[in-house]
Amino acid sequence: MEILVTGGCGYIGSHTAVSLLEAGYDVIIVDNLCNSKMDVIDSIKKITGKDVKFYKGNVCDYALINKIFSHHKIAAVLHFAGLKAVGESVSKPLLYYRNNIDSTLNLLEVMTKYNCKNIVFSSSATVYGSPQTLPIKEDAPLTTTNPYGSTKLYIEGILKDVYTADNDWNITILRYFNPLGAHKSGLIGENPNGIPNNLMPYIIKVATGELPILNIFGNDYDTPDGTGVRDYIHITDLANGHIKALEEVLKGSGLKYYNLGTGKGYSVLELVKTFEQVNNVKVPYQIVDRRPGDIAACYADPSSVYQCLGWKAELNLEDMCRDAYNYVIKTK
Ligand code: NAD
Ligand code: UD1
Repeated sequence: MEILVTGGCGYIGSHTAVSLLEAGYDVIIVDNLCNSKMDVIDSIKKITGKDVKFYKGNVCDYALINKIFSHHKIAAVLHFAGLKAVGESVSKPLLYYRNNIDSTLNLLEVMTKYNCKNIVFSSSATVYGSPQTLPIKEDAPLTTTNPYGSTKLYIEGILKDVYTADNDWNITILRYFNPLGAHKSGLIGENPNGIPNNLMPYIIKVATGELPILNIFGNDYDTPDGTGVRDYIHITDLANGHIKALEEVLKGSGLKYYNLGTGKGYSVLELVKTFEQVNNVKVPYQIVDRRPGDIAACYADPSSVYQCLGWKAELNLEDMCRDAYNYVIKTK
């Protein structure tokens, strides 16, 4: 059965492509490589021993998406393609709205044309804004504080309207918490260029000596040690969550929303300490001012996804720290 994976060369898409191939699906990837490299395709093939079809191009390109659907009998789409840097979205909002929303509209139009009405969409815990209650359930109030988050919320709205207009659609919206780690092979993972915005890539660059010191953004939050608390989830668990979501979509599930998180929050200091212990390295840090827009704590209530899909995270923070570092060391 052929599954189209948009953004399949990226961090989450590539790990999910591996899980899909291992589960016996045929995978077609479309990616314009704006935030990834083509080598990933070879790595996916190497890990799984299976072939992947790859189209280099933009999901905003109607002719390309039409061509892909005309050449393949696609049963469902996992839609990862999108820009995701919060800070950049504030300085370039139109780029984010154009890329993330246009690509989704285009995809949905072509899917409608070919009567492929099964889609799993990558949303984010960012749609919960600054949560009023923890842990966060799927029916918590939604709001965003930046254009990136707004694109996720608008796309969720578009998908809901598409479903309302035509109940033949099966649409699952997955709201990811904070994915970390890498495939255990060390062949795929996350290693952004330049100075990273997110915590784990920054820790790694300090551990490898590429950056001198980790800045911890505030230790005066209302959390056990004062540093920010997040629900970190291993990328392999996250990828496997997509397989469960896809299985349900293919059975005909209607419109669903699931949190993909572990349900447990860890502080920045806990993450740094675990990383140092597991990898036997030092990560020098200093406390600096809070980062504007940051929230104190954010973690999921993952009970709904467990009850409905039987999915829960299996790997722990040590696995995330070990695998994240292993990937970077191996590819250095
Ligand atoms: P990523 O940047 O590693 O992967 C996204 C991929 O999409 C990249 O390979 C990029 O080249 C491609 N892409 C972007 N726009 C495209 C377009 N118009 N046409 C074709 N390809 C395009 O990001 P990721 O971390 O793998 O995230 C995947 C999805 O999950 C994104 O939609 C992101 O917003 C969402 N998400 C990510 C996180 C996270 O922490 N990584 C958290 C919540 C949600
Ligand atoms: C960020 C995004 C969010 C996105 C998520 C996953 C912001 C404001 N939010 O979430 O929309 O869905 O990434 O891509 O960018 N920290 C430090 N020092 C650092 C980096 C981070 O102390 O150098 C702290 C942060 O204050 C936070 C925690 O580490 O408490 C995690 O930060 P990060 O990895 O950037 O993720 P989020 O802010 O949760």
